[in-house]
Amino acid sequence: MRNLQKNDTPFRENIIRSSKNNFSRVILALDLQGDSSSKLLRNAKNLVDRTSPYICAVKLGRPTILNLGVERTRALIKASHGNNLPCIIDDKLGDIDETNSAISRAYFDMGFDGIIVNPIAGWKGGLEPVFKIAHRQGKGIIVLVYMSHPGASDDFGQFVLRNRRGRPTRQYEIFAERADEWGADGAVVGATRPEIVKRVRAKLSDKVRIYSPGIGTQGGKVIQASRAGSDFFIIGRSITRASDPERAAHNFARQSMTEP
Ligand code: XMP
Repeated sequence: MRNLQKNDTPFRENIIRSSKNNFSRVILALDLQGDSSSKLLRNAKNLVDRTSPYICAVKLGRPTILNLGVERTRALIKASHGNNLPCIIDDKLGDIDETNSAISRAYFDMGFDGIIVNPIAGWKGGLEPVFKIAHRQGKGIIVLVYMSHPGASDDFGQFVLRNRRGRPTRQYEIFAERADEWGADGAVVGATRPEIVKRVRAKLSDKVRIYSPGIGTQGGKVIQASRAGSDFFIIGRSITRASDPERAAHNFARQSMTEP
């Protein structure tokens, strides 16, 4: 993992500190569904408490907020913070500026430390205020660059022309450039595509860490993604649905800290 850089934001400092303390680059992904909100919260807190020695952050998906409701989501964020773990909202935010501002403010008020955004919304009239709001409050912004699922190649992998005379460029390369130019704290690239991780790593400055989902259930491997340049590994079902989530988290943590 890239070490702390000069001018790293509080979000970056926190997640790197947590990663060093727990000797893990694993982020636990929680997408809760299928039970009453009180039972979901109980189970989720239990999972966070049990896996907390082996993870460096928690990422909540929109299903979690929709199924828990706002107050119980706050309680879950508090439980993560109680274990010294930053909490990221995976919103893939990509609306117009005012709507983006309202959504991101609401998430940050709930206690989230960072947010995943969709660069397709662009800067002016799109994501610009989200970066300002986040960085004013010491929060982090992670930009989607190449998703982990098979269909991601339809758009993230397509060739586009920036202008009539320009050479065709892959969409994800443009997104990686934007993440860098915009001052993002991180870029999401699926662990299912280590070659793309490598190419994106080469485009990004060191302060933009690569966050890779798609480990285990979706076929990605921690070691391969780590060798390619991923800094953090977002892992959901392979931990949450394991017969022994602590042991699964511990195993992934060990892999994540193995020298590439
Ligand atoms: P699993 O169970 O597959 O969960 O380990 C992965 C988690 O990560 C989310 N996910 C993504 N989030 N960009 C993202 O921002 C992606 O490319 C991506 N792929 C998976 C997924 O929603 C789940 O929470």
